[in-house]
Amino acid sequence: MLTDARVVRLSKPALSGGRRYRQYLGYWRYFVNNRGFLAVCLFFFLPVAHAQEKPEPPRTANGLSLTPPMGWNSWNKFACNISEDKVRQAADQMVSSGLKTAGYEYIVIDDCWQGERDADGQTTADKSKFPTGIKALADYVHARGLKFGIYSDAGTKTCGGRPGSRGHEYQDALQYAAWGVDYLKYDWCNVGTQDAKSSYLTMSDALRATGRPIVFSMCEWGTAKPWLWASNVGNLWRTTGDIWDHWQGHKTYSLGMMDIVDLQVGLSSFSGPGHWNDPDMLEVGNGGMTTEEYRSHFSLWAELAAPLMAGNDLSAMSPETKEILTNAEVIAVDQDALGKQGDRVKKDGDLEVWSRPLKDGGRAVVLLNRSETSRKVAVSWEDLGYPHSLKLHVRDLWQHKDLPPSAGEFETPVASHGVVMLRLGF
Ligand code: GLA
Repeated sequence: MLTDARVVRLSKPALSGGRRYRQYLGYWRYFVNNRGFLAVCLFFFLPVAHAQEKPEPPRTANGLSLTPPMGWNSWNKFACNISEDKVRQAADQMVSSGLKTAGYEYIVIDDCWQGERDADGQTTADKSKFPTGIKALADYVHARGLKFGIYSDAGTKTCGGRPGSRGHEYQDALQYAAWGVDYLKYDWCNVGTQDAKSSYLTMSDALRATGRPIVFSMCEWGTAKPWLWASNVGNLWRTTGDIWDHWQGHKTYSLGMMDIVDLQVGLSSFSGPGHWNDPDMLEVGNGGMTTEEYRSHFSLWAELAAPLMAGNDLSAMSPETKEILTNAEVIAVDQDALGKQGDRVKKDGDLEVWSRPLKDGGRAVVLLNRSETSRKVAVSWEDLGYPHSLKLHVRDLWQHKDLPPSAGEFETPVASHGVVMLRLGF
């Protein structure tokens, strides 16, 4: 057996050939004479070496949101001015207004619901805004046959300056599950040098570890191109900065509706059942656009297979707003089971054609006029991937009317900043 002194001596560098041979012989004898040690080595190191050789099993999706999620979120209307009364009211209105029947499901509280963490690091609700607490609110929402969502941030603080989940991911996920949360929107403020992929993966794992089905809505603004890596991490991911309730233009970090639409071009192949591109929540009914423009906004979101998260005050909805948000034919396009996002297939200055393949082999087509005057917009069947000779049924999804069947092409006047939305089929 080798003594410690001998091991030290043999491990010195620059040994001669004969001495090096004796050194290896010495090691070998040591292993043979110490079978127990050898067994321990094999027991611990072989599995490690073996594991390193094996490729990682592919991460599977969580199986949620096979069609784009639909619901209501507090941010676009109320921002930080939120309270449990407003959330309760939204849940009630979701039912009484018919939005629930139309398919809207999630009531999501955005930023500013949090108070300070307690002595154990547990997340708490701001008592002045949510005096009865989040569990009671979730129960209230569930009792109306709806689902309940909440918001946090991957960094140390939320965008509104409330405590973020950084370093508390598993603790927070367990707390959300205990409260009955069904949907988490996870923001990207105050993240310093954090890596987006690993940060979102951590919370995704934490949510799964709770055992409760929780839709994971990633709000990283498209900075790290989540469409390239997040299909099994989140159920939806923001592709841009925040929406601004305007037809077009920029306001600090926010983008007008058409600016957001332009940024969706080229992203369709990354979206599908369980993992959706999210061009941000709806502004329909918030007052910054005309009814015509809101109709375009809603049509384009459906065409893009976007999550439909209403963002208006549901207790003060005009008939026009309600008509837009509950248009069953447009919603059916958004929720089409094929889950294929539409593409801009033609652009001629301000006139555009968008096409979305549907499960029944048909197409949802949006003819869009971005100009300041009414214009004629045309689509040819070749733009849609159909033979010119094919005769197609044409249905207008805003007039709720079948139009005469067409072959080869279709042309119609479209109002300024408006759309004509069609369903073409056999
Ligand atoms: C970011 C998000 C918004 C909203 C706010 C809340 O700006 O992109 O959707 O959640 O934070 O502070």
